[in-house]
Amino acid sequence: MTRKNIFGVAAIALLMAGSAGVQSIRSEEGAAYVGKEKCAMCHSDIGASYEGTRHAKAIESLKKTSQEGVADCAKCHVTGYEKDGGFIDYELTPEMAGVQCEVCHGPGGKHVGDPMGGKMVREPGEELCRACHTKGQDPGFDYAEKIKSAHGE
Ligand code: HEC
Ligand code: HEC
Ligand code: HEC
Ligand code: HEC
Repeated sequence: MTRKNIFGVAAIALLMAGSAGVQSIRSEEGAAYVGKEKCAMCHSDIGASYEGTRHAKAIESLKKTSQEGVADCAKCHVTGYEKDGGFIDYELTPEMAGVQCEVCHGPGGKHVGDPMGGKMVREPGEELCRACHTKGQDPGFDYAEKIKSAHGE
């Protein structure tokens, strides 16, 4: 709720500031998910190191028990679940499996074509992590510690 309010204020400020700002806010709001292969084309070091994280392999954990098709599991083990360009199911969108870059940085549909104009979320923040690292799934989750290895070691 707070987030929505802040966004509203920012949007009004930009409306007053001029049309360029408004356009970029709209585009980001409507940006689609594109998948990690696109990100790694430019951010190749981060892309390579990310592949060593458990986020990158999160779908493998579901496959162990053949649960990659179970929606209740997928929502925390994939990217952009049920969002534009995001994961639909493992048959249709295998490339969107795993907890990828865009889970933390937001959909990149605008940024990949215009990195300077289409800004990504720089630091996702604890609240985002807690959407999946819930008390039930991960009672010992320590944000300050875990954020250090967001891109791997
Ligand atoms: C065409 C090359 C290119 C692609 C593809 C690309 N980026 Fe970027 N990215 C950049 C550049 C250049 C910057 C620095 C922009 C700046 O300094 O204003 C950047 C900056 C960022 C930042 C820092 C915040 C910001 O917006 O400045 C993040 C986070 C980021 N990219 C994530 C991603 C993710 C996630 C993807 C895949 C969805 C991606 N990038 C795809 C070139 C790219
Ligand atoms: C979309 C859901 C989702 C979000 C959001 C998410 N994670 Fe995860 N995370 C997972 C899943 C699922 C795993 C387990 C992957 C596996 O092993 O199958 C995991 C594993 C991890 C691990 C490795 C296991 C461990 O506990 O050491 C770290 C570190 C981690 N996440 C940090 C973070 C941080 C920091 C954030 C927020 C910036 C975050 N995660 C956001 C779903 C998520
Ligand atoms: C609310 C988000 C969420 C849901 C829903 C969820 N997971 Fe996870 N899962 C996580 C997180 C976060 C981790 C990493 C923390 C940990 O290791 O306990 C994880 C880790 C795992 C692991 C790796 C455990 C290990 O220690 O190697 C497996 C396997 C797994 N989940 C399977 C499933 C299955 C099967 C389902 C559906 C029945 C499911 N998950 C649903 C968030 C979720
Ligand atoms: C678990 C969440 C998480 C995931 C997944 C993640 N990042 Fe990040 N990323 C962060 C955090 C937190 C920061 C800011 C702190 C820092 O610089 O390490 C960041 C910073 C960045 C930056 C800007 C600063 C820098 O180091 O250049 C870029 C670019 C970036 N990430 C790209 C990516 C790409 C590309 C991927 C996928 C291959 C990715 N990230 C996956 C959390 C994540």
